[in-house]
Amino acid sequence: MPCSVFAFSTWSVAVFQLSAIIAPVVGNERRIMVSSGRLRLWCRDRVRSPSHQRGAAQRSCDNLDREDWDKRYRESAFVWSVDPNQFVVAETADLEPGRALDLAAGEGRNAIWLAEQGWKVTAVDFSDVAVAKGRRMAQHRGVRVTWEVADLVAYAPVACAYTLVLVCYLQLPVDERRVILAQATHAVAPGGTFLWIAHDVSNLEQGVGGPRDPAVLCSPKDIVEGLSGFEVLKAEVARRSVEPARSATAPETVAALDTLVRAVRRPAR
Ligand SMILES: C[S@@+](CC[C@H](N)C(=O)[O-])C[C@H]1O[C@@H](n2cnc3c(N)ncnc32)[C@H](O)[C@@H]1O
Repeated sequence: MPCSVFAFSTWSVAVFQLSAIIAPVVGNERRIMVSSGRLRLWCRDRVRSPSHQRGAAQRSCDNLDREDWDKRYRESAFVWSVDPNQFVVAETADLEPGRALDLAAGEGRNAIWLAEQGWKVTAVDFSDVAVAKGRRMAQHRGVRVTWEVADLVAYAPVACAYTLVLVCYLQLPVDERRVILAQATHAVAPGGTFLWIAHDVSNLEQGVGGPRDPAVLCSPKDIVEGLSGFEVLKAEVARRSVEPARSATAPETVAALDTLVRAVRRPAR
């Protein structure tokens, strides 16, 4: 039962003898009529989107849906740093710029940095708020990025089209992660690089920050298991230095632990 409906029914028991009529869902809203005597009140209740329903059984405060992400992105100027992730910088330093696909690109810090290095980048995220911010930042920095708003669970990128496919801190339960991992690897061109960076499950006990729900964390093994036709160059738990403010709850710890997988697609025979 959605929270708002629950709140109403509790209130009704405590204060008045209210009755509620719940109308069918229209669009993504459902109307609820609450009445007491001659008083009638129609309320609107937001119905969860299909992507929300998909993960409903496993949802936690770390397993966010599109609306949660939109809200988060609306709340601050930039949720993440505007600087690229340190592993993206390090792992692409020896690559010749080509076509790159950044999946779950968020506000676009990595996509924009890659574009600045000469990559032709497509950035995809299901939060249109994040994508709008990315567009503005790219414009401000004078680079072109192709932006797409899409749910990656249903997104099929062009197969074998990208010399770099990047997935950075996508935090989803295993079923959805597997679907996206498969699609992401299909998009890598022969000889191209696949890069998966994520909050590692060991971060819960030994690192700082990041989601607290183990269901949305992974390990290098989880990712490598989903690679077929790739040579794995790196599959490790990497230490990422964290700004002091983010490690305030554990001042003695200075690093977050990330899953870092870098692999190259074997050329077609
Ligand atoms: C932790 S943020 C990482 C953003 C970016 N990769 C970065 O490192 O700055 C995770 C991103 O995944 C996106 N996301 C989560 N589930 C998604 C889905 N099913 N389809 C598309 N994007 C999704 C969110 O909107 C959010 O922008």
